[in-house]
Amino acid sequence: MRILLIAGGWSSEKEVSLAGAKEIKKSLLSLGHEVTLFNLTPNLNELIKYAKNHDFAFINLHGSPGEDGTIQALLEDLKIPYQGSRPFPSFLCLNKLFFKQILLNHNLPTPKWTLYKKDLEHFSFPSEFPLIIKPNLGGSSVGIKIIKNQQEFLNLKLNPETEYLIEEFIQGTELTCGVLGQEALPPVLIKPNKSFFFDYTSKYEPNGAEEICPAPIENSLTQTLQELALKVHTLFGLSDYSRTDFMLDKKGNIYILEVNTLPGMTPTSLLPKEAQAIGLNFSQLIKRLLELGLE
Ligand code: DAL
Ligand code: MG
Repeated sequence: MRILLIAGGWSSEKEVSLAGAKEIKKSLLSLGHEVTLFNLTPNLNELIKYAKNHDFAFINLHGSPGEDGTIQALLEDLKIPYQGSRPFPSFLCLNKLFFKQILLNHNLPTPKWTLYKKDLEHFSFPSEFPLIIKPNLGGSSVGIKIIKNQQEFLNLKLNPETEYLIEEFIQGTELTCGVLGQEALPPVLIKPNKSFFFDYTSKYEPNGAEEICPAPIENSLTQTLQELALKVHTLFGLSDYSRTDFMLDKKGNIYILEVNTLPGMTPTSLLPKEAQAIGLNFSQLIKRLLELGLE
């Protein structure tokens, strides 16, 4: 097939996207496909022009645009198949506020939160300090900060154009669990090596974190995480793959942090590790995603 590999863009996760695309390109070539790596720019006419000469689009964008459904909508319009979720589910899941509200409506556990943006009339902190603040539309922990008290919050230099989510900070262990096709994968347990939490450095620096897959946890916990990952996948109408991130607090309570509808595919990323644990190497995972995208 002639495959257009769409990566880059202008979100805070651009570098993560390009690093993943490099690996994906190698695999697509080894599978015998023709590949054009397309570095997305705001000029979408360029994308339309290129996409027309291709049989499939492999999207490896993170954040906005791309993980938010915009590029998927364009591909729908052009009738070019792609892997991953459709436009509206992608949009809902990238917006942490919408995502969490729907979890709450279905009694699924997620840390307490409030939305913060400039000129908001009613605002109160969602719980006691410490709290965690993150851009509502971001990923890969870019721009995330822990705030220990009111003064630290007042000292933050927030972007007036950005919506932020302020969340209860759950101290404990981060776990993540992917879904591929209809199946939940073995979860990963994450132990950041240097940082207090799984921040950008611990995510992407070699040896930034110890990521153990399958997670060395009780079977019942593995089962619960897999059930929740599948529930999120189904509830939001996701397609082909997704990866749900969790926190486990010291009392054993599980919280859903977010779902990634285009999970990271860099050499240190988590979903490829989970696929490896069921015997799929990186190229086999890419092959499977192509098949799922064409179904
Ligand atoms: N948002 C990044 C790419 C991930 O979750 O893997
Ligand atoms: Mg993410």
